[in-house]
Amino acid sequence: TYVVTENCIKCKYTDCVDVCPVDCFREGPNMLVIDPAECIDCTLCVPECPAEAIFAEDDVPDTQKAFIALNAELAKTWPALTERKPALPDADDQNGVPDKLKDLLR
Ligand code: SF4
Ligand code: F3S
Repeated sequence: TYVVTENCIKCKYTDCVDVCPVDCFREGPNMLVIDPAECIDCTLCVPECPAEAIFAEDDVPDTQKAFIALNAELAKTWPALTERKPALPDADDQNGVPDKLKDLLR
């Protein structure tokens, strides 16, 4: 499966959802996650993300491993997002800012 990691937080560009053939992105207040039960490993979303936040599960950086379980957990309750929408207002300023996990809204 593929995993959305920390740099999505407070950016939420949503370019990823338009290319997903199985609509497996789920939307929270300031981040998206991927439902691991639905992702078919097509890889299409990876190059679409301006924040470079999406990784194959096996390639998730060591500092980001918590997001594997977090995607699975949050995907159970967050609703699907199937069409692109405007990014969060501060997306470009927040792209690349470290330690955003503390800012995750559920
Ligand atoms: Fe969707 Fe493909 Fe990305 Fe999985 S890898 S989330 S199926 S676009
Ligand atoms: Fe997040 Fe990147 Fe999609 S910032 S919403 S994973 S395009």
